[in-house]
Amino acid sequence: MEEEPPPQPDDPASDHTAAQHKRARSNSDSSVSAASLHSTRTLHDEDLEFVHENGRIYGNDSYYMPCDQPEQDRLTLQHQIYLLALKGKLTTTKVSPKTSRILDLGTGPGDWAVGMAKECPWAEVVGIDMAVWDLDITETTAGDTEVRWEIDNLDVWGIEDEFDDIVLRMERVDLARDLAERDPVDSPARPRAKTSGSNTQPQTPAESAYDLYVLNPDEQPGWHFSDSYDLIHMRGMKGVFGYWEGVYEEVYKTLSPGGWVEVVDYHIDLPQMEQETRNPASFPFPTLAKLHLALLQASVKSGRPLGTYYMHPSYLSDAGFKDVSTTYVNVPIGQWPEDEEQRKIGKLFMVCVMEMLEAHLLRPLTVWGDAERVWSVDEVRSLIVKAKEEILEWNTVMEERREPGRRSVFAGWEWKANFKWIIGRKPLYDL
Ligand SMILES: C[S@@+](CC[C@H](N)C(=O)[O-])C[C@H]1O[C@@H](n2cnc3c(N)ncnc32)[C@H](O)[C@@H]1O
Repeated sequence: MEEEPPPQPDDPASDHTAAQHKRARSNSDSSVSAASLHSTRTLHDEDLEFVHENGRIYGNDSYYMPCDQPEQDRLTLQHQIYLLALKGKLTTTKVSPKTSRILDLGTGPGDWAVGMAKECPWAEVVGIDMAVWDLDITETTAGDTEVRWEIDNLDVWGIEDEFDDIVLRMERVDLARDLAERDPVDSPARPRAKTSGSNTQPQTPAESAYDLYVLNPDEQPGWHFSDSYDLIHMRGMKGVFGYWEGVYEEVYKTLSPGGWVEVVDYHIDLPQMEQETRNPASFPFPTLAKLHLALLQASVKSGRPLGTYYMHPSYLSDAGFKDVSTTYVNVPIGQWPEDEEQRKIGKLFMVCVMEMLEAHLLRPLTVWGDAERVWSVDEVRSLIVKAKEEILEWNTVMEERREPGRRSVFAGWEWKANFKWIIGRKPLYDL
């Protein structure tokens, strides 16, 4: 029987269509199987608080990305890019008939979960998200599958509200570096003890980098899942949590002995950022660079820093995982590659990047702002238009310069994203 769609507040100003939410995910009141999933549920249908903001729809007040139809379309396109990057594979873990229970956390429109259900018809696949997406579209695209959809808010830790302190410490951090490939020495592996007043004391750069991510809440509640899983998957979860140590502890607890976790995400750097300082006039992305830095600053201010730092192997090994390993794939952005297949991926990903600009930037810059101030909606939107022009212009130049066998023509100007899959195994016996 079809369930009623969740209530959607009216917003005449909205210029985006909300996902139709034809089939709501189940909650503990409406699904017998859901009751076995959790002993403690944090979110119910009636709690869903869709926020209409500047023409976009968000799942709550704290997560930075929208959950409307344009975002669903973008995530589905992005799913194809993940697949192309991994040569059609959905996972870097070894799935066997023993993999009988699979959990996708922050599943979004559920493309990965549906794909896994198709590939592993013997397995029970569960997808959890705090927002409701149009699952009918996903399942129609992917065929007849059995996935159990659940709604839940996984961020049970919240964030520490130390706004001024975070802004102060931000000045000493190289955001582009520290939020991407975090050095293990700077790893915020352990939450610091909360001490009043001490956070504004002078610190060494290493200490400030260490402290930046440690947004340790007073209480450390967990997920309290009552069932265990053989594979837990999380994809595109940067900016969802401010307390990753707690997330990995919960994932570890929720896995069966011998089970695998897989965390997937990507990081985009602008090509040759240092070109900007060497010759500002020739740098093709001045607006994009400005927006990129502002977004990183806003995310830190929000308490949920962006970047793939949360995929550093130290997080997994500190939580107890073994056989931790990472698969890296560089994915081109734009039509510069000589190789036809790569050029096709680059074109698709460029479309995805242009679509993601507003989804990524609008809320962070208009709510939290960069290191100095909160931006206006018009300012963000007009800079996005400019940034898109820069991308298109750069792509045209790169296409014109593309000549077989003359890669040096582009040296340093290729634009790529670094896609990562990190996996770890829960040992059969806890020593
Ligand atoms: C960038 S999307 C990735 C979706 C999907 N994993 C994919 O790769 O297509 C992040 C997802 O995390 C979900 N999310 C954000 N905060 C969450 C929370 N506190 N609890 C559960 N899901 C959350 C969002 O609703 C969104 O679907």
